[in-house]
Amino acid sequence: MSERLSVCLAGATGWAGAELARAIAGSEDLALSAAISRTHAGRNLGDVLGDVRINCPIYTSATEALAHRCSVFMDYTKPDVAKENVLAALAHGAHVVVGTSGLTDSDYADIDAVATRVERGVLAVGNFALTMVLLQKFAEMAARWIPQWEVIDYAHDDKVDAPSGTARELANRLAQVRKPELTVPVEQTAGHRDARGATLSGVQVHSVRLPGFVISAEVIFGMPEQTLSLRHDSGASARPYVDGALIAIRRVSTLKGVHRGLDTVLDL
Ligand SMILES: NC(=O)c1ccc[n+]([C@@H]2O[C@H](COP(=O)([O-])OP(=O)(O)OC[C@H]3O[C@@H](n4cnc5c(N)ncnc54)[C@H](OP(=O)(O)O)[C@@H]3O)[C@@H](O)[C@H]2O)c1
Repeated sequence: MSERLSVCLAGATGWAGAELARAIAGSEDLALSAAISRTHAGRNLGDVLGDVRINCPIYTSATEALAHRCSVFMDYTKPDVAKENVLAALAHGAHVVVGTSGLTDSDYADIDAVATRVERGVLAVGNFALTMVLLQKFAEMAARWIPQWEVIDYAHDDKVDAPSGTARELANRLAQVRKPELTVPVEQTAGHRDARGATLSGVQVHSVRLPGFVISAEVIFGMPEQTLSLRHDSGASARPYVDGALIAIRRVSTLKGVHRGLDTVLDL
């Protein structure tokens, strides 16, 4: 049997990281080398997650965790620490998958310079859910043919940021296909301009925050006498993000430098 791909998981005790740690433990080709969490440092991840299949030490920082050799470093932490983690991992010769949201284009430009120099791949994915990756692809196809669209993001009432990272990424990707052609420019709105939503990369984005929603994203394309709605809904668990993250971990070593989006390593 071939050797398992070793993975260092930053944020392994978090909502998304814990689900991924369990999936890695259940896979036949991946193994956890070390985990990172400040609260649980010094303990075994298997004990923290109550999963007997996991035997992996937890450290406070990436520098300590990277003393255990790993092929791939996966980050699911917070934007304030993710860039430092990624650069430390590249310095140790690992390929990197970034699930953490909030890193800026300028952060990725810095990371790209290092990753290209050390000839390692960095794959940054704003949403690992395969259904969302497909929605993005289908929406890009639609935007080539339909000149007008708007994005709606729905989330639970206590989500403080708006619009969601997913809606932001969708708007950015569609704007790269082309900018929507509004019949009435937003600044010429009569009444309340805010009712037309926020303009992101030239795309109107509307955020709904209500109890009863988890996270959904919708893009509506309109043409005379016809509309096309593409909508993605996620449940309450982090399960939707697991399969895409596993694909990214398995394929990131085929890349050099920074690449954005899971479709980079999918044959869509
Ligand atoms: N790309 C996707 O598809 C996707 C899906 C889900 C979530 N996300 C993103 O992934 C990130 C994590 O989300 P989450 O909901 O899992 O968050 P979470 O539940 O708060 O977990 C964060 C994890 O990171 C660790 N951490 C945070 N700050 C740290 C630091 N300074 N040093 C070391 N460890 C640190 C936490 O452990 P300690 O607090 O013990 O340090 C915890 O294990 C967010 O940016 C989220 O938006 C992306």
